[in-house]
Amino acid sequence: MIQGIGLDVVELERIAHLDQRSNKFRERILSVTELQIYGTLSGHRKTEYLAGRFAAKEAFSKARGTGIGKECGFLDIEILSESNGRPVLYFKKDLVNGFVSITHTRTVAAAQVILVES
Ligand SMILES: CC(C)(COP(=O)(O)OP(=O)(O)OC[C@H]1O[C@@H](n2cnc3c(N)ncnc32)[C@H](O)[C@@H]1OP(=O)(O)O)[C@@H](O)C(=O)NCCC(=O)NCCS
Repeated sequence: MIQGIGLDVVELERIAHLDQRSNKFRERILSVTELQIYGTLSGHRKTEYLAGRFAAKEAFSKARGTGIGKECGFLDIEILSESNGRPVLYFKKDLVNGFVSITHTRTVAAAQVILVES
């Protein structure tokens, strides 16, 4: 049974602007492992990756019904990819019972999260 759904869309230009200013923005959004993956990417792919993770984390917080805040911070959420590219969600290190999907176009990244009852 579905427990929650969340959706988020972000503009790549906004994320690129925040990311170019300093390391601070990405360090606030990405876990250590995600930062390592980000570091292996080049140019525009970095922006897509950061924007996609940002959107997925906001979507997850909406699916939980908390939004981003004390209870559910960006760094509490991790989205790792399986070897075939499929993204998988972790919250406070635990595998989440649910699904996440991420997409990018030339201008935006978007993500949808569906949580199911354990
Ligand atoms: C809900 C959240 C995750 C995203 O909100 P946002 O990006 O400002 O706005 P969005 O347009 O993506 O989403 C707004 C919608 O989220 C929904 N929403 C708000 N609180 C919610 C909650 N607790 N649970 C589920 N959905 C929620 C509402 O439907 C809202 O639309 P409405 O006001 O018209 O009803 C919010 O917790 C947030 O912005 N947190 C701060 C994130 C932050 O620190 N960003 C830093 C950027 S530098």
